[in-house]
Amino acid sequence: MKILVTGGAGFIGGNFVHYMVNNYPDYDIVNLDLLTYAGNLETCKPVEDKPNYKFVKGDIADRSFIYDLFEKEKFDIVVNFAAESHVDRSIEDPGIFVQTNVLGTTVLLDASKEFGVKRYHQVSTDEVYGDLPLDRPDLFFTEETPLHTSSPYSSSKASADLFVLAYYRTFGLPVTISRCSNNYGPYHFPEKLIPLIISRALADEELPVYGDGANVRDWLHVYDHCVAIDLIIHKGKVGEVYNVGGHNERTNLEVVKTILKALDKPESLIKYVKDRPGHDMRYAIDPTKLETELGWKPKYTFDTGIQQTIQWYLDNKEWWENIISGEYRNYFAQMYKDRVE
Ligand code: NAD
Ligand code: DAU
Repeated sequence: MKILVTGGAGFIGGNFVHYMVNNYPDYDIVNLDLLTYAGNLETCKPVEDKPNYKFVKGDIADRSFIYDLFEKEKFDIVVNFAAESHVDRSIEDPGIFVQTNVLGTTVLLDASKEFGVKRYHQVSTDEVYGDLPLDRPDLFFTEETPLHTSSPYSSSKASADLFVLAYYRTFGLPVTISRCSNNYGPYHFPEKLIPLIISRALADEELPVYGDGANVRDWLHVYDHCVAIDLIIHKGKVGEVYNVGGHNERTNLEVVKTILKALDKPESLIKYVKDRPGHDMRYAIDPTKLETELGWKPKYTFDTGIQQTIQWYLDNKEWWENIISGEYRNYFAQMYKDRVE
């Protein structure tokens, strides 16, 4: 079995590559990544010498490159993680989100159709469902919830999902889609809330909380997302969407305070800043289909997962200190300059 993993030098793709290389020694895992600002070969270091692993640098939206690769490698399964993934960046520059997330996906779909891929799996997000109100804790996203996006990022992901489903219906391409809630864990790029707070709190820097910090996210440890995708690509029904989430809703403020407590840092580091435009209020996944049809059960609660994650950041300072000492400084200065009220 040969699997193409795109975006495997990023956060979730990187964790998935580790998971697959170690759990399936008889599979060949090819990691294709453009190494954008979010891609990091240091993330792939633990597997780079394994005989069943190979890295290829390239762009999923580069049609001739992708066709050549598919012709040569004859992949059985494609798992597409490659994307622009940060909502704030999509508000600054939507174009690259259309290019990578929409056009890139259609190139991969065309190549999968052309070269007879047996399963195309699209890694999507719960953000395609929009958001839920804070005063209706009884509501959850199911696979039937209508798509209703808020940001250029979520709109590009929803567009990609619609293309994936169209290739199933129109061309019979054997596809599956997973829509997961917010991930956290090792190798998470420090532009996202949890690693940003951990790295800045360790340096006793101000911690930017958007708005009043009451927005709710449904946090899942990245390991449990990897297990879900493993189950879906092996046992999921083609043409189907599977929601992934473990009922771990927390307000942003709760998350930040949990991290501060674990690091023994003061809450006075918290700084309320200007809100994200169009900021989604609450995400909450109903994972019943994945649990009942495929037997998925998460290993981590938020409490166990966040402790493991904080410990990883303490034990792997070199990984993230290399990131925040480079171009990231300019990113932070630029992105947060207008947020200070
Ligand atoms: P990430 O930004 O950490 O990684 C994205 C990776 O894709 C990087 O390694 C980058 O170099 C690569 N990439 C970008 N453009 C590319 C291109 N044109 N060709 C090839 N590679 C390219 O993202 P992530 O957080 O790991 O998210 C991975 C996927 O999971 C995305 O599709 C995202 O929408 C989805 N997702 C993320 C979350 C989350 O909480 N992070 C939750 C649900 C779904
Ligand atoms: O729900 C899945 C999605 O989760 C994925 O599809 C996205 O790729 C991923 O980036 C994530 O999106 P969010 O926008 O929810 O994640 P982010 O870490 O950017 O923000 C989490 C919450 O924290 C959100 O309500 C905004 C807030 N926030 C974020 C940052 C970076 C802050 O308050 N301060 C910050 O500095």
